[in-house]
Amino acid sequence: MPQYPSSTNKSALDVLILAAGLGTRMKSNVAKVLHKLDGRPLIAHVCRTAAKLAPRGIYVVVGHQAEQVQAAAEQELGEQKPSFVSQKQQRGTGDAANAGRSALAKANSTIVLLSGDVPLVRAETLRALIDEHARSRASCTILTIRLENPTGYGRVVRDAGGNFSKIVEQRDATDDERQIREVNSGIYCFDSGKLFAALEKIQPTNSQGEYYLTDVPAILKEDGDAIALYQHADSREVSGINTRAELAEFENLVRRRTIRRLMLEAGVTFVDPSNAYVSSDAKIGRDCIVHPGVHIEGNAVLGEACEIQQGSRIVNSRLGDRVTIKDHCLIVDSEISDDCAVGPFAHLRMNARMEERAVVGNFVEVKKSKIGRGTKSMHLTYLGDATIGENTNIGAGTVTCNYDGKNKNPTIIEDNVRIGSDTMLVAPVRVGEGSITGAGSVVTEDVPPQTLVAGVPARVKKKLGESK
Ligand code: UD1
Ligand code: CA
Repeated sequence: MPQYPSSTNKSALDVLILAAGLGTRMKSNVAKVLHKLDGRPLIAHVCRTAAKLAPRGIYVVVGHQAEQVQAAAEQELGEQKPSFVSQKQQRGTGDAANAGRSALAKANSTIVLLSGDVPLVRAETLRALIDEHARSRASCTILTIRLENPTGYGRVVRDAGGNFSKIVEQRDATDDERQIREVNSGIYCFDSGKLFAALEKIQPTNSQGEYYLTDVPAILKEDGDAIALYQHADSREVSGINTRAELAEFENLVRRRTIRRLMLEAGVTFVDPSNAYVSSDAKIGRDCIVHPGVHIEGNAVLGEACEIQQGSRIVNSRLGDRVTIKDHCLIVDSEISDDCAVGPFAHLRMNARMEERAVVGNFVEVKKSKIGRGTKSMHLTYLGDATIGENTNIGAGTVTCNYDGKNKNPTIIEDNVRIGSDTMLVAPVRVGEGSITGAGSVVTEDVPPQTLVAGVPARVKKKLGESK
C-alpha cells in the first residue's frame, strides 16, 4: 500500500485518535472505547483503520483506564506500534487533541483526527477526506453527514454562500440551529501547525464548560483560513457510539453484513441468519452449515462442508473439512482436522488438537492434548496434557489425573490402545502400544506395550499379542 503523501499531498500523515473519555452515556465503569463491537474493543477498530492509511505515526490520546486502552491498541496494531499521549483530566475534545501538542505541533504534517467511538469508518473514506483536504488547500477539512435525526451531534452551520461558518454543539444550539441536519462526524483533517495554534485560543465558554475541538475550525476561519466540508453519503459508517443501545445497533449491523457476505460470497448455509453470531474476521468454507445459536468468534477458520450444530461456540480455532460439531460444544484455541466429530456437549481448549477422523463425544473435556487419527473418546472424560496415538479407544469416564497439586503432568497413550471405562491415569504415565486397561483401573505406573493391566492400583494381568 502506498505511503501518503499521495501525488496531491506532499506533507506527511499522522493520525491522532481521541480515546481518553469515560463515555458517561454508556453508564458503565468501563471506558467506552473498551466496549466490544464484533468481538474487539472500539479502539481496536479505529486503530486498524488508521493503520490502513500507512501513516507516519498513530497517536492515541488516553486518560480513563489508560493502561487497558493502551493494551487494546497495542494488541490490535502489533508491529505498527502506536504512540500514546495522556490527557490527565477529561476537559473536552479540544483539550484531548491538545494532549498531542508536544508530539505533533512541530510535525509539519497532515493530521487525520479520529474519535475512538466511531468504529466503522473505512480507510477509503478517510483517503477521500485526505485528498479533499489537499485539493482544497484548507487548513481544516471536516467530514460531515446528513442525519434524519441529528440529536446529540454538533451541527454544521453554513453561511448564505454555503460555506462553513461554525460548528455548534446540540446543547449550545439555538432552536433554528437544531433544525440543521448536517452534522460533524468528529473526523477531520488538519494542518498540524494550524491545529495547535488554534487550540491555544479555545475557551470553555459553553454549556458544558469544556474545551471543544469543534471551536477550532471557526477560529481558523476567523484567521482567514479556508475550511472545507466533505460530506459523506453513508451516515452509518461515520456515526459514533454513545449509548449501549447504539452499540447493540452497530453489533447487529456488522453481524448482518458478515453473515450476508458469508452466504453470498463464501457459500455458507445459515439455518437462521438472524440467530448466528460470526466474527467478521472468521473464515468459513463452502457448504458449511451453521445452525441457530452458534457463535464463531475471533480468527476462527472453518474448512469446507463442516456442520456446526445448535448452540456451539468456536473461538480462535481451526477446523478442517467435513468436521461435525454437534450441539452445545465449546471449542477455544484448538485445532480439529478433517472428518472429525465433536460433541454433543464437549469442551476443547488450550491447544487441543484432533487429527483426522478422531471423535470426541458427550461430556468430554480436552485440554492441551493431542488426539491421534481415528481415536475415539466418546463419553464423560477428561483428557488434559495428554498425547494419544492412533486408533485408540478411551472408555467412558476416563480421567487423566494430570495435576498433583503442584504441577501438570503428561499422559502418553500410544497407538491401538483400549483404555477401559472409568480408568484413572495418574500422570506422569505412559500406556504402551496395543495395551488394555481394565474397567475401573487406577494406573499409577507405565504400562508396557501389548499388556493388559487392571485393578487399584493397576497390575499386569497378562501379555497380549503373539499368544492371542
Ligand atoms: C463530538 C463532537 C460533535 C460531533 C460528535 C460526533 C465535540 C465537542 N463534539 O461530540 O460535534 O458531532 O463528536 O461523534 O467535539 N474524548 C477525550 N477526552 C475528553 C473528551 C472526549 O479523549 O476530554 C474523546 C472520547 O473518548 C471520544 C471522543 O473524544 O472518543 C468524542 O467525545 P464525545 O464525548 O463522545 O463527543 P460527542 O459528544 O459525541
Ligand atoms: Ca461521541
